[in-house]
Amino acid sequence: PGVVPGVWAGVMPGSGPGLQAWSAICGIASCLLPPATVAAAQDPDATMSEICDPTTGLPMPGIPSMFEPASPPAAEIETLTWLLLGICAAIFVVVQAALVHAIVKYRATRAASAEDGGAGEPRQVYGSNPVELAWTVIPIVIVFVLAMTSVRLIRDIERTTPPENSLKVTVIGHQWWWEYRYPEFGIVTANELVIPANRPIWLELHSADVNHSWWVPQLAGKMDCIPGHTNVLWFEAERPGVFLGQCAEYCGTQHANMLLRVEARDDAGFEAWVRGQQSPPAADLDDAEAIRGREVFLALACQACHDIAGVSEGAFGPNLTHLMSRSTIGAGVAPLDRDTLRRWIDDPQTLKPGCNMPSLELDDAQLDAVV
Ligand code: CUA
Repeated sequence: PGVVPGVWAGVMPGSGPGLQAWSAICGIASCLLPPATVAAAQDPDATMSEICDPTTGLPMPGIPSMFEPASPPAAEIETLTWLLLGICAAIFVVVQAALVHAIVKYRATRAASAEDGGAGEPRQVYGSNPVELAWTVIPIVIVFVLAMTSVRLIRDIERTTPPENSLKVTVIGHQWWWEYRYPEFGIVTANELVIPANRPIWLELHSADVNHSWWVPQLAGKMDCIPGHTNVLWFEAERPGVFLGQCAEYCGTQHANMLLRVEARDDAGFEAWVRGQQSPPAADLDDAEAIRGREVFLALACQACHDIAGVSEGAFGPNLTHLMSRSTIGAGVAPLDRDTLRRWIDDPQTLKPGCNMPSLELDDAQLDAVV
């Protein structure tokens, strides 16, 4: 207790063992979030626009509460957090009580100072075995309890092998968006992780550039995405719903807008999503505007960065296959509809300053066609 979690994050190599428990402490800050935001974020039917800041129209940047866990690792982290908070609160009360007691009982009174020349101060103690033992042994016991409970929690929730029947998803952190690959289904998507509820999820986390950290507080502790190194994380959503999170490792200009969105669906809903993602885009477009849009997309630099199944094979930016099945754009920076999509393509820097997608300065006709 009292140790700044960020300090631990700095001294712990990688972030594998250890950070899960400390992320619990970091999550205390999430208590401060207005409950209404959390409730809206958890409503599976809520669209992003319902939790947007009314003045800017952008999604609220709040962090969902880790005190409403929806997955076994998150529930264990919450339990440990309450234990740590309880012990720290008890220490705070005892220390403050002793302080107030000393201030009140031994404060210098004018009468005492005048009569005995300042002899009103308490008896001075030099070298007391009982006192020194007490202030050594009690903190050692407290630290031992905290360390052991934390180590036990880490052992409980960290796994080196995937849970039985788990769905494996590869996560790749990019500046400033998330790539998700489902090897089981041959699906590649971006920024919105769709999963089945009540089935363990096994994430293998990588990074394409700098360190990122995948953190959805209601599902699991933090886990870093590190270039050239694979970390793993598991969780299991106990109910369908939308769980929001945030990149938790400073990774550059748009770190704060590297938002996470996990949508847990019931089995039928998940199967429908998988079928939708696997279906190829219409091969023969009959809409003249759509044909024109594809021509513009292929003629400009769009196709060099973005992969669209059956259209282009760019690998640098988010995969745009079935883009309109997603709820947000720019890694959660704005709700996705045709209007925001048009603004985004016109100039991404207005919605997400500093992001790696430039404005290609399309004219109105080109914008209309692409959107
Ligand atoms: Cu990615 Cu911070």
